[in-house]
Amino acid sequence: MRVLIVGGGGREHAIASKIAENKTVEKIFVAPGNGGTAAFCENIDIKATDVGGVTRFCAENRIDYAIVAQDDPLCLGMVDELNKIGVKCFGPTKAAARIEGSKVFAKQLMKKYGIPTAKYEVFDDFASASAYVQSAGFLPIVVKADGLALGKGVVICESADEAISALKSMMVDEKFGSSGKRVVIEEFLTGPEVSVLSFTDGKTVKPMVSSMDHKRALDGDRGLNTGGMGTVAPNPYYTEEVAQRAMNEIFLPTIEAMRAENCPFTGCLYFGLMITKDGPKVIEYNCRFGDPETQVVLPLMKSDLLTVMLSTTNGTLDKTPVEFSSGSACCVILASGGYPVSYKKGYEIDGIEEAEKTARVFHAGTKLEGGKCVTSGGRVLGVTATSQTLEGAVEKAYAAAEKISFTDAFMRRDIGKRALEYRKEA
Ligand code: AMP
Ligand code: GLY
Repeated sequence: MRVLIVGGGGREHAIASKIAENKTVEKIFVAPGNGGTAAFCENIDIKATDVGGVTRFCAENRIDYAIVAQDDPLCLGMVDELNKIGVKCFGPTKAAARIEGSKVFAKQLMKKYGIPTAKYEVFDDFASASAYVQSAGFLPIVVKADGLALGKGVVICESADEAISALKSMMVDEKFGSSGKRVVIEEFLTGPEVSVLSFTDGKTVKPMVSSMDHKRALDGDRGLNTGGMGTVAPNPYYTEEVAQRAMNEIFLPTIEAMRAENCPFTGCLYFGLMITKDGPKVIEYNCRFGDPETQVVLPLMKSDLLTVMLSTTNGTLDKTPVEFSSGSACCVILASGGYPVSYKKGYEIDGIEEAEKTARVFHAGTKLEGGKCVTSGGRVLGVTATSQTLEGAVEKAYAAAEKISFTDAFMRRDIGKRALEYRKEA
């Protein structure tokens, strides 16, 4: 098989590594890929959002299967376009990708089908949104841009003034372009967060091992929100009991709801959950694998990834085993100094080979330049270690990450801390 992966981050490197284990894979192309995928795949110089460019490439290069891993091409309808020319894909259609691409769509779906989530209102004009915030009578209050906003479209506001300025920047100043013209305003929920990625063919849903992201830039969950600074799997807060409730109250009803709305979801549906006093609730859906969740989930997967992916496309997931090892994994992100705001690129990276002796190094913002690996983005590398225990995985991941260096590199020092604390309490 000739496979194309669309995207260029650590998630795509992790997917490519796992796909490469399948003997029927003749060649993997990645658009655009990175310094890590360049080692065993062919990177092609086409942007992940270039629907026309990717479609032409597939037609001209006899691509058998396309894995669209990134949110924006999915929301732009890349799968629909590829299907039109007969290329099978892993990933949802444009209509199904609305579950991530429009928060209003997702919230209305949950309300209609009784799926637990935070209470909310939708607004498309600034005056009524501000009036609502003034009179809502509860704080903190959460303001969310309807559309995709590079993970920056959610603002947790401690005061009405703060909420009004968030609304102004989205709705009046159009900070996120058309993504912020409509907003969701919702109640603030508390509790530990869990990421559950799942495979689905639109009828059957099979969750992967749970994980925990660390979204803030600095230790102790301080600093700005980022794409994710590290992950652990499994997430100890996601007990058997919570998993059972999530399956009955959230996963199955969501898959059924999407079918009932005539947009069955196929591919990877990511459930961002919060475990509240009243049980698990949906914070967000993503229409794709998480990054850096994928970098801890796939190294624990025992089943063949490509076989499972194909079964989501062919509607045979019910007959396809999806198994994970009982071990743990930890991924520590090495980022460029100044991320997520502004940072320099082009610094040479040392120590990757040394780190790879004991861990997996997934590239994110790297590229090869004159045979050397240099930084080319905010999140540069994800260092993943696996072990029988979570303690072991965390220790191994940090020991390996310490071996890597580049100018102004930084990492959080407390990835896995909260998960380990749970173990102590238990
Ligand atoms: P998102 O960009 O949708 O992943 O949201 C970013 C983060 O905001 C989530 O991971 C949560 O930590 C937080 N968040 C979003 N909605 C709520 C809510 N209703 N209550 C509390 N925290 C929230
Ligand atoms: N790590 C969060 C996300 O992929 O959206």
